[in-house]
Amino acid sequence: MAVSISSVSIVVLLLAFVYKAIIYPAFVSPLAKIPNAHWSAPISPAWILWRRFRMTNNRTIQAAHARLGPIVRLGPSEISVNCVEGGIKSVYTGGFEKHEWYPRVFGSLDTVSMFTMIGSKPHSIRKRMLSNVYSKSTLQSSPHLQKISHAVVVERLLPIIQSAASTEKPIDVHDLNMGLTMDFVSAYLLGLANGTNHLQDDEYRKHWLHLYFSRKPYEFYHQEVPNLAPRLKRLGWRVIPKHCDQANEALDAWVLNLCDKAARSLDSTDPSIEPVVYKQLKHALDKQSAKEGSKPAPLQQKNDIACEIYDQLTAGFETSAVGLTYLFWELSQHPEIQTQLRAELRTLKPPLTSPGAELPSPKAIDSLPLLEAVVTETLRLHAPIPGIQPRVTPAPSCTLAGYENIPPNTRVNAQAYSLHRNPAVYPEPEAWRPERWLKSENSVAELEERRRWFWAFGSGGRIFCAGGRGLEFGSLLTAGVMLESKLVVAAIYSNFETTIVDDTDIEAIDAYTVHPRGQRLVLKFNAVA
Ligand code: HEM
Ligand SMILES: *[C@@H]1O[C@H](CO)[C@@H](O)[C@H](O)[C@H]1NC(C)=O
Ligand SMILES: *[C@@H]1O[C@H](CO)[C@@H](O)[C@H](O)[C@H]1NC(C)=O
Repeated sequence: MAVSISSVSIVVLLLAFVYKAIIYPAFVSPLAKIPNAHWSAPISPAWILWRRFRMTNNRTIQAAHARLGPIVRLGPSEISVNCVEGGIKSVYTGGFEKHEWYPRVFGSLDTVSMFTMIGSKPHSIRKRMLSNVYSKSTLQSSPHLQKISHAVVVERLLPIIQSAASTEKPIDVHDLNMGLTMDFVSAYLLGLANGTNHLQDDEYRKHWLHLYFSRKPYEFYHQEVPNLAPRLKRLGWRVIPKHCDQANEALDAWVLNLCDKAARSLDSTDPSIEPVVYKQLKHALDKQSAKEGSKPAPLQQKNDIACEIYDQLTAGFETSAVGLTYLFWELSQHPEIQTQLRAELRTLKPPLTSPGAELPSPKAIDSLPLLEAVVTETLRLHAPIPGIQPRVTPAPSCTLAGYENIPPNTRVNAQAYSLHRNPAVYPEPEAWRPERWLKSENSVAELEERRRWFWAFGSGGRIFCAGGRGLEFGSLLTAGVMLESKLVVAAIYSNFETTIVDDTDIEAIDAYTVHPRGQRLVLKFNAVA
């Protein structure tokens, strides 16, 4: 009797387990109706984890959507969408919260930034603190940016290129771009006087980049299996090498030091010194503490600011450097477009051919249609963040791509790489064709549709976006990026033509933020009269 009761209970337990682990997720859950990217997806995340471990996330998801349509199931509780209506519009514009993936991967100094905050409430408070200093109108009329543009582009960048052109020495522009964009972003955040000078300090730039990128091969562990590395470490097996911890410490010290220097310039209103973003954030946090009647814990505030600044520095430099690298690469393969672009750039007043103290206004540069098209098409074909932006579905349930009752806390991703390759929206999607963005060559409806699918900056409340739509949206950050990138391209292509010397391993790695696999692009610059 006793034996049969316990065997009955074992059978019941077994059946319950089979139901919960296999029958329910594979046949009963509303997710079961969604096409499976792999037969094992409903019952185990092992398949997608393995693909991510092998750094084939993007091609795996791309292939799944090509085969199965706009929504696929990647794991027991993970799906991917690849459409606008019922896809990115519901998830991102609809404000689904970020997945904990973000603080896992990008957290620093034991705190979170605007980028890594999960909840929408703390996020919108932080965002409100910073919106003003990044608005398009602030940026376009900023005396600080005017000083910064002149210092970084005219005084630092152009002489390097001029000297390379006159000695016919090829340059690794990717390396150069990573110095250029860091100088640009850090000068705006922390003040020109106390920002970085990576462009001119080759040795420090290379050291810094080495530190920064040394951690990238191990991102997978933080992103997808956050408990694995600490557990294995306790067993004496380090999957994340010690040099990563050392690099993290060095980068924390680096940003804390930059912030300390900016703190000493807080009282300045000189546009070459005033640390615009740092100051805004510091004052806003002080004000918030005063309002809450609490005295700010100085160490906590210091770390909060440094974490925010670190995130903006790194988010800002890496993406825009990669974008510029691919832009130079494409232009170097399209001499006819270089010529057209140069003709357009030379209509600027004053011209960038002999830049003096005055640069053309950001507004004038921003309104050149071919330049806009070249930048946009590059971000479409070579999105610096081509990969997944994980969110979680809300309670009690939602509908995506026509599938109803999707349970809460399901991880949902979309990826720019795939959205940008819809042939119905972008014919011959693999071709780099700036014309597809020109008003003069496309109907209003075609342009609208292309803008709706354009996802290089993501969409919704988490891109620092003031609303509006398409590319002429009053987007905050994008405005800054576009201004920076456009000025650099304008300054270079007004004066030089570029040809490829070495583009070995130019294809992008498969990661959240990409870069050329070879981490370089060697070009030759010729001065044009
Ligand atoms: C070509 C240049 C850039 C591209 C392609 C780009 C792309 C993106 C994308 C796709 C997101 C959404 C990420 C997600 O939800 O997973 C994002 C967010 C963000 N970016 Fe950029 N970005 C660029 C430049 C910059 C610059 C220059 C800065 C800073 C100065 C910056 C700071 C941020 C921040 C703070 C967020 C998080 C906003 C939030 O969660 O509220 N980015 N960017
Ligand atoms: C920071 O800026 C101030 C100007 O306020 C300048 O005096 C100082 O030398 C700068 N610090 C560094 C390390 O460049
Ligand atoms: C994404 O996948 C495609 C294949 O589908 C591949 O050709 C491409 O290089 C990959 N890009 C990135 C950024 O991983």
